[in-house]
Amino acid sequence: MLAVQADGQDIRTIEGMAAADGTLHPMQQAFMENHGLQCGYCTPGMVMAATSLLEENPNPTERDVRIGLEGNLCRCTGYHNIVKSVLAAASA
Ligand code: FES
Repeated sequence: MLAVQADGQDIRTIEGMAAADGTLHPMQQAFMENHGLQCGYCTPGMVMAATSLLEENPNPTERDVRIGLEGNLCRCTGYHNIVKSVLAAASA
């Protein structure tokens, strides 16, 4: 989207996910605890997409998670632990 299209809107970035005291967002914590990343290149996008997914669907199935993240590519993990992380965050 062009920046002008976001005029007047709230924008959330990965830098704003953790609390001011450094406490990780539950999705970040789930990725860390479930080894949902390797090189980390895709991780910000995965965390943001997964957080949005759970806001829309708090109790997703594994299939829901895989479909919800299909626009994000990861060259490292094979997605297994990413999906596991999102499901863990959903059940937390
Ligand atoms: Fe390396 Fe996803 S963890 S691209």
